[in-house]
Amino acid sequence: MNTAKQIATASCMFLLGCGQSVPQSVPNGGTGEDPGYIGSATCLSCHSGLAEPHALHGHANALSVIDGTAPLFPESAVIADVPNPPADFEWTDIAWVIGGYTKAANFVDRDGFLLTAEAEQSPVRYSLGHPPTGTPTGFDVTVSDEISGTEFGFDCFRCHTTGAASVESNGGLRQGNRPGVGGTWSESGVQCEACHGPGSLHIPNPPAGNVAVDGSARGCGACHARDIGIDAIEALAGFIAPYQQSAELLAGPHAGLSCTVCHDPHISVVNDRQAALRNQCITCHPDANMAQHDGKIFVQGDYVERMNCESCHMPFATRSTVSATDAVTGGLGGRIGDVRSHVFSIDVSPRGFDDLLDTDGTRINLDANGKTAVTLDFVCMRCHNGIGRAFELTIDSASQVAQKMHDF
Ligand code: HEC
Ligand code: HEC
Ligand code: HEC
Ligand code: HEC
Ligand code: HEC
Ligand code: HEC
Ligand code: HEC
Ligand code: HEC
Repeated sequence: MNTAKQIATASCMFLLGCGQSVPQSVPNGGTGEDPGYIGSATCLSCHSGLAEPHALHGHANALSVIDGTAPLFPESAVIADVPNPPADFEWTDIAWVIGGYTKAANFVDRDGFLLTAEAEQSPVRYSLGHPPTGTPTGFDVTVSDEISGTEFGFDCFRCHTTGAASVESNGGLRQGNRPGVGGTWSESGVQCEACHGPGSLHIPNPPAGNVAVDGSARGCGACHARDIGIDAIEALAGFIAPYQQSAELLAGPHAGLSCTVCHDPHISVVNDRQAALRNQCITCHPDANMAQHDGKIFVQGDYVERMNCESCHMPFATRSTVSATDAVTGGLGGRIGDVRSHVFSIDVSPRGFDDLLDTDGTRINLDANGKTAVTLDFVCMRCHNGIGRAFELTIDSASQVAQKMHDF
């Protein structure tokens, strides 16, 4: 699979020098008809080879319909499991579970409201546990006495469903007639037509295409970017805010690569990492060494990590649901969130995350070329903090070493 030829093709097709990619609209095949959603079961009746990998991807499981019992995930999914509904609720009280597949789950009740804990102002959450931050499995945001349901709005479900339409755009319809839902969708989860567009016009003449195929940062950025867009990076609670892989990619050295140069869009990186990644770092950087960490293994409590390129270049600089406390970082300024960053560049100066923020602290500063780099508090200080099995460094000493990291 990972042949040099494939990369050469990929470079020519996806590097910015060959022309900036633009989002592809779904053509109507010249009939003037509006395309309609036909459902993934129909797609899979012909493309059956994709059934198994797709079912195992986080996309397929981004929203589960609950029918009186716990959400059913594929047996080979390594992390997924939401065994119980929130305290004082039965599964019969729940209409949908959001996620619960790779990081955490939120819950939508039978009336279509997102269960929230009033005190915390955030959705009730079941965490699947995150060893690098020392986060255990279990409910970490629980239902308070006075639960306040917030609308399960378009803002929330548009990225977790297929064919999402808001009440403003669909004539006031609500999924399942549930009053708390701010619109409708054709299928729960990110199914085939979430990326390929409605497929009705593809069926009569498959060779004509009539489906979108955009694996660029812009294409995937329909959901892997926040409302501020892909040319800015939002910060939240001392971390890069979640679902901004597109914006992060563009702010780093790989801006010229499509997501699909590295990712097979149909294979889960969480559940089948080997098959999911089309090109490894060393495929394109054959001369890079392991920066003095060859064969080193990091151990902290029950967490074990064999050092690889991602250990430093894709640190947990993003926080989706949880981050580590001082008990895990040693209070020396290290930071650990729960999503790996896609910036790739490392800032070797002794600066910390706060120095990256703009004046009101909600955005990452980008330089004149729109670039940034992750700071050493996310990189070295995640491990070299005196808590895990790696000697203690200060951010200043880490900076001195980092400047010559690959020179040996
Ligand atoms: C009746 C069988 C059939 C069904 C149903 C079907 N396809 Fe296809 N599809 C094909 C065939 C055959 C091709 C290959 C055409 C070719 O190689 O020229 C194809 C090609 C494609 C391609 C590649 C297009 C390109 O430009 O490279 C995509 C993407 C695709 N299908 C997605 C879908 C999706 C999404 C659905 C459901 C909405 C779907 N297909 C339903 C038969 C089908
Ligand atoms: C712009 C698209 C987008 C919106 C809007 C969005 N999400 Fe997500 N969500 C994602 C992406 C992408 C991921 C996974 C990648 C990441 O976390 O960076 C994700 C992950 C999650 C997860 C973890 C899933 C799992 O299986 O572990 C939960 C839970 C979640 N989102 C809940 C919500 C809730 C609740 C809302 C509304 C308040 C929401 N999301 C709005 C795109 C979105
Ligand atoms: C996350 C977005 C996404 C989802 C979900 C998705 N695809 Fe794709 N698919 C792509 C992209 C992007 C390509 C472009 C070619 C590539 O990079 O592999 C593609 C390529 C294809 C192709 C042509 C090449 C191939 O791999 O055979 C077919 C057929 C296809 N998809 C069918 C499907 C079907 C059927 C589903 C649902 C089971 C689906 N896709 C779900 C993004 C997606
Ligand atoms: C240069 C290669 C590369 C490119 C380009 C790339 N990724 Fe990744 N991505 C990876 C690797 C490697 C991982 C797995 C990291 C790990 O867990 O070891 C990953 C993981 C992810 C994850 C899971 C992160 C987590 O920690 O939960 C998401 C989501 C993701 N990528 C989305 C995207 C999107 C969207 C794009 C395009 C905007 C993209 N990636 C472009 C290499 C890449
Ligand atoms: C319709 C919205 C949507 C689009 C479009 C989309 N994603 Fe996602 N993606 C999500 C959501 C939501 C999640 C979190 C799912 C979960 O874990 O519950 C996610 C998770 C992921 C993950 C981690 C989960 C896993 O099992 O590996 C990767 C990798 C990923 N997306 C890559 C991509 C790539 C590459 C593209 C473009 C080809 C893309 N996504 C397009 C919504 C989307
Ligand atoms: C498909 C090929 C490809 C893959 C896979 C890839 N890279 Fe790159 N990488 C590139 C290209 C192209 C550049 C841009 C060089 C430039 O800007 O001139 C680059 C640049 C970089 C840079 C900045 C180099 C500099 O001189 O500042 C770093 C750091 C980097 N990559 C790390 C990684 C890591 C870590 C991985 C694996 C997670 C990875 N790359 C995977 C192609 C790739
Ligand atoms: C222990 C942490 C660490 C590991 C592991 C690591 N790097 Fe680096 N890497 C760095 C630091 C720090 C820099 C310096 C950043 C700079 O110069 O801006 C760097 C620089 C780079 C650069 C750009 C400068 C150069 O020397 O070419 C590339 C490309 C790169 N690394 C690729 C990789 C690849 C590929 C791997 C895995 C084989 C890897 N790195 C493993 C920390 C690491
Ligand atoms: C994922 C954890 C992790 C990260 C990230 C990490 N290291 Fe390490 N590092 C280790 C472990 C584990 C060892 C081996 C410790 C031992 O043998 O006592 C090590 C060893 C070292 C060594 C000694 C190398 C040798 O020849 O024995 C240096 C120097 C070092 N790290 C510096 C850094 C710097 C600087 C950074 C950030 C750019 C960094 N490390 C990032 C875990 C990490």
